[in-house]
Amino acid sequence: MSAGGVTTSSRDRPLSLYHLLEPEVLADPYPLYHRLRTEDPVHWDPFLHVWVVTRYRDVVRVLHDFSADRTPSPEQLTRMGLAELNPIAQVMVKQMLFLDAPAHTRIRSLAAHAFTPARVEVLRAHIREITDRLLEPVLPAGRMDVIADLAEPLPCIVTAEMLGVPVEDHRRLKSWSQDFAEMLGNFQHNPDHAPKIVRAVEEMTAYFRSAMRDQRKRPREGLVSTLMNAEVGGDRLTEEEVIANCIVTMVGGQETTTNLIGNGVLSLLRHPEELAKLRSDLSLIPSAVEELLRYESPSQHTGRLAPADLELSGRRILRRQAVIAVMGAANRDPDRFPDPDRLDITRQDNRHLAFGWAAHFCFGAPLARIEGQIALEAMLRRMPGLALEPVRLVWRTNLGLRGLEALPVTFETRPGGAPAGWLSR
Ligand code: HEM
Repeated sequence: MSAGGVTTSSRDRPLSLYHLLEPEVLADPYPLYHRLRTEDPVHWDPFLHVWVVTRYRDVVRVLHDFSADRTPSPEQLTRMGLAELNPIAQVMVKQMLFLDAPAHTRIRSLAAHAFTPARVEVLRAHIREITDRLLEPVLPAGRMDVIADLAEPLPCIVTAEMLGVPVEDHRRLKSWSQDFAEMLGNFQHNPDHAPKIVRAVEEMTAYFRSAMRDQRKRPREGLVSTLMNAEVGGDRLTEEEVIANCIVTMVGGQETTTNLIGNGVLSLLRHPEELAKLRSDLSLIPSAVEELLRYESPSQHTGRLAPADLELSGRRILRRQAVIAVMGAANRDPDRFPDPDRLDITRQDNRHLAFGWAAHFCFGAPLARIEGQIALEAMLRRMPGLALEPVRLVWRTNLGLRGLEALPVTFETRPGGAPAGWLSR
């Protein structure tokens, strides 16, 4: 395989995150990350024209100190001759993910009520029921595609519940979020896909505007209502801000959680000793989920801009230059994690960066953790003898959101189906 005339087998080809576009690098990006971390940890990428940062301590500094305000405004896009992308920019400039303080702090604190411990407990009970419902039909067959049968529909249905919109809409939410995620996860953009993404944003905007109207008539619990009614010191979100942040939360919670479940199950199947350890002691599940998040991070990197001319580990970065902080590489940094390429579900001091760091630390982390824990526990309890089908695994071509297209597995069927009431055990 070659990219720009460079063969993947040679070690002396130009160092660039761009090689992630090659399927074999995408399947195992860790040797590339290792090279970046050891040869040039704050690297000016000659193809992407951005700084690529791969060491744990530098990624933490970028996430802590650099500017998240990185989306072009509609006015800038118009000046660049890209006015057709304005509907996307209009939404993104109001999303918490792309704001700095004080605008970010304001939205984040108004949204904070969405995950009170009581609300998370209600969702936990629902997540168990949904998982159970999804697994029931596949159990007699003794085989399933973990992605299509569980990892995709679970977060999608949970997201509808979390938002407080009709669960029957979950397939529409999924399709919009897949389109939008294409833009979030990639640093290469296919101009042919722009109309599809613009359409998705317009449809989502109309959908949430109508959900807000419904809320006023028939209030129901969920993020739409939380954002509409949140008030701090007399300040409230505007309708456009509610819509933009419903969209980012909806998208943020789907592909990533799908990838946590898919990558997590794959990593365990590739490490039978760790899988056996977990099966014999399910109380290790929370610790295992943290390790799986570190080991195969669902969100591999994110972007920032330098807030001023500054120095980062000996390299001079100029104000407003773009930086890609590679959490997937930082999470394998041996200066932070002993023996980082080893999957160890009992790992202590596992402060990984899979959910980011500092002000933008993942807003939905409590929910994602519960979904990952419940999905894993359900599979381990109900599917003895879980094994990979001998097929070639294909990684999605989204470079930032690391996940599989499909994960076919087999397992033993129990005569008469699965025992009832496993959830209460
Ligand atoms: C395993 C699943 C998940 C992973 C790995 C993940 C990862 C991340 C990361 C790395 C960030 C920070 C990005 C940055 O700093 O640029 C982030 C932010 C965010 N996530 Fe998640 N996420 C997950 C699940 C969720 C869920 C379930 C939701 C929704 C309920 C969600 C909503 C958000 C939002 C709204 C932000 C922006 C926060 C802010 O800017 O203050 N995420 N997530």
